[in-house]
Amino acid sequence: MSSGNKSADRFIPMAKPWIDESTINEVGAVLRSGWIVQGSQVSAFEEAIAGHHRISEAVAVSSATAGLHLAYLALDPLPGAPCFIPSFAWPSAANMAVQTGLRPVFVEVDPSTFNLTGNSLEAAIQSEKLSGQDLTGGIVVAVHEFGLCAPMPEVIAAAEKHGLMVIEDAACAFGATLNGSPAGHFGKMAVFSFHPRKSMTTGEGGCIVTNDKSMATAVRALRNHGQHVDNGERIFISAGFNYRMTDFQAALGLGQMRLFDEMLAHRRSIAAAYFEALEGLPFLSLPEWSDEHTWQTFMVVLDESIDRGRVIDAMATRGIGCGPGSVAAHELQFFSKKYPSNPESLTISSRLAAQGLALPMHHFVAVADIMRIAQALEASAAEVG
Ligand SMILES: Cc1ncc(COP(=O)(O)O)c(C=O)c1O
Repeated sequence: MSSGNKSADRFIPMAKPWIDESTINEVGAVLRSGWIVQGSQVSAFEEAIAGHHRISEAVAVSSATAGLHLAYLALDPLPGAPCFIPSFAWPSAANMAVQTGLRPVFVEVDPSTFNLTGNSLEAAIQSEKLSGQDLTGGIVVAVHEFGLCAPMPEVIAAAEKHGLMVIEDAACAFGATLNGSPAGHFGKMAVFSFHPRKSMTTGEGGCIVTNDKSMATAVRALRNHGQHVDNGERIFISAGFNYRMTDFQAALGLGQMRLFDEMLAHRRSIAAAYFEALEGLPFLSLPEWSDEHTWQTFMVVLDESIDRGRVIDAMATRGIGCGPGSVAAHELQFFSKKYPSNPESLTISSRLAAQGLALPMHHFVAVADIMRIAQALEASAAEVG
């Protein structure tokens, strides 16, 4: 496959999906067919996802955020119950917790995996208990940040000790495994995203996966106005939404699945090249290496002395697109006002949000580009430092 224009001075964006011509033709065929809403392509896409992640049920939806909304609802959330979520993550899981009457409680992350740990979860749980909060009906959302699975055995052990249910926000982790088991095998349900910045895309889109048939039945109905078909009879079993994926998005998704192994192998080779080029640079720290990572984002953490905003601007003048990695949800205006946290317990999340720098990571970055990006980063840091 062609990785596009490889000239030395071309602009390298931070993210860009690869959609091949056969997929574009297949999407066109669906558009021409006259059936464009959820139909046979969505069913085929769900089957392909379930097969790829070796899981029994896959339910395609319009985004991961919609999927998280439905996953919480399927658990029949108890109003005011705590929902433990790592602070350093896109706030979808926290937003949907609020929308379903749960109370977000932010958990600290590890400085190099960027994920919550069994210990950080236990600390957040103990702090809730100390302040007299009831944990009944509580949920833990294990975010697999940037495509690296959270340490699920220790997270599940801590959750189970306190009677909490676990779901996986695997938005960034399609294709990730942990000790050989695919993301989605650890919690009651897991949710993938197919936004264009993810390891594969359907434009917008997501999918809930689970081995629990009753959960799958509940989320299938909730995504489609509450409808459930039983023995050929259509019944309305819940007050549902319209969170369906369209058939042309699913055709795009099927094309992406055909390319997926190649795209993932490319991301992994780019990550390895970044490690080689950036290891030992004194002004940044690298993320934890794992062969099981999807490298949805490659984020380094700049030293406190370096102004990240100025580095992003300096990289742009050198033709390289960079950006912040993610946010510390506990610091966002809404959550800091409505669900205040103790900032002392979330200092790593705050530092990652302030100093994390996402570098280009996609199919059109070539291994040969990485030295140019590393040199630009050294020059930019020296210029602003
Ligand atoms: C951890 C995490 N969860 C959820 C989402 C939301 O995904 P979507 O845009 O498909 O709703 C994102 C998107 O960046 C994410 O990073």
